[in-house]
Order: sequence, then C-alpha cells, then structure tokens
Amino acid sequence: MNDARRLKIAAAAEALSYVKDGMRLGIGTGSTAEEFVRLLADKVNEGMSVIGVPTSERTAVLCRELNVPLTTLEETPHLDLTIDGADEVDAELSLIKGGGGALLREKIVAAASDSMIVIADESKLVEKLGQFPLPIEVNPFGLGATTLAIEAAAQKLGLSGSLKLREKDGETFVTDGGHFIIDASFGRIPDSKALSDALFAIPGVVEHGLFIGLARTVIIAGASEIRTLNRP
Ligand code: A5P
Repeated sequence: MNDARRLKIAAAAEALSYVKDGMRLGIGTGSTAEEFVRLLADKVNEGMSVIGVPTSERTAVLCRELNVPLTTLEETPHLDLTIDGADEVDAELSLIKGGGGALLREKIVAAASDSMIVIADESKLVEKLGQFPLPIEVNPFGLGATTLAIEAAAQKLGLSGSLKLREKDGETFVTDGGHFIIDASFGRIPDSKALSDALFAIPGVVEHGLFIGLARTVIIAGASEIRTLNRP
C-alpha cells in the first residue's frame, strides 16, 4: 500500500470513531471518502446500524457493493453527520471541493447534516484556498454567456486565470445532475465569501466548490500524527 493511501485510511479510521449506532449519515465522494465507506462497511457487517445518503452515483455503487444501507434526502431529509473529503482546506476550515465533480450533491448533503467532518491527508491543508482550480458547476444552457459572466465577476474581485470546461475521456464531463463544470484557476483567493457571493449572483451558475462554514471538524492525517481541527 502506498503512503498516500495509508494516510487516507488513517483519516477515515479516525472519522469512524464519530459514527454512532443509529446515525443517519451523509457519505462523501472521492478516494478518501471511499476508504471511509470500506471501513464503515466492516462496522455494518459487524452489526452497526446506520443509514446513508450517498453524494454521488459513484459512492452509491460502492455502498451497494459493500452492503451499506442507503436512503435518500426525500425519505431522510435530516442527517446527523456527513463525512467527506476535500481538495483544499484552510485554517478557517473553508474548503474547495468538487475535484471529483460531486460538489452539488456534496453541498446539499452537508447542508442537510447537523455536522460535517472532512477527512484528508496533510497535502490538502493550505494557507489560502485557490491553488486547486475552483470547480464551478454550470447549466449547459448559455455556457458561453455564463463563462463570460464568471470572468467578469472574478475580475471585479481582482481575480483572473483560465476557465476550463472539464472533460473526461475526450468528452465534456457531465455531473450527476446533468450540468457541466468549469475549473477556474484563479490562484490564491483572498476573500472566498466575496467570490462565493459573486458566483451565486450569476444565473447560469448552479453551484461552486467553495464550502464556507460547513465543515465543523477536519481530520488531517500526516506522516507522524493525525490532527483534528475544530471550527469554534
Ligand atoms: C468530489 O467531488 C470531491 O469534492 C472530493 O471530496 C475531493 O475531490 C477529494 O477527493 P480525494 O479524496 O480523492 O482527494
């Protein structure tokens, strides 16, 4: 097993200690969240009773394979705890998410939960968000106009950089919700709240990967220790 995977498993194992019998869980997307699903499945197979809302079709498939019981936000609109990964985490526990393209469902599920725990290896910890390109989920209708509007909104905040329509296997990437993703390489984002507000003011923007005020706890696995950061 490589070191990166070992750290993801260590963070996932620590997060598992927050999961109690009977909990309604939000289950994240990505390679770190998948390690959590595997450990959770072991607990379920030993008799723990939990039910989860997956944040993507990809996570749903894995949960079904491993017999983790699933529900929906229609059946279970209020969740106790969401466990998910992140692409970047800053000192205020603001995040960039969406590298795996599941940001919309991830944010809906996190917002429906009493608490969100993020699991990550130490490479995800940054001083300021923005080295990782910010995923912006957009409606396919009006893509050109929406892209121009994003560029203009960013410029007003002193931000610039390439806006790249995400592709996968040579095709435009389509999210579980049927939308496209623009990956915005703005670099360091000095005021993530201002950027979030500006993006939400654009009609074609469905969601963006800035998660502000959602993560209550971040578990960071490093080579020598596991750190738990809590938002006051
Ligand atoms: C999925 O859309 C993302 O938000 C993931 O949570 C994020 O990309 C982290 O993924 P890894 O755990 O694979 O780094």
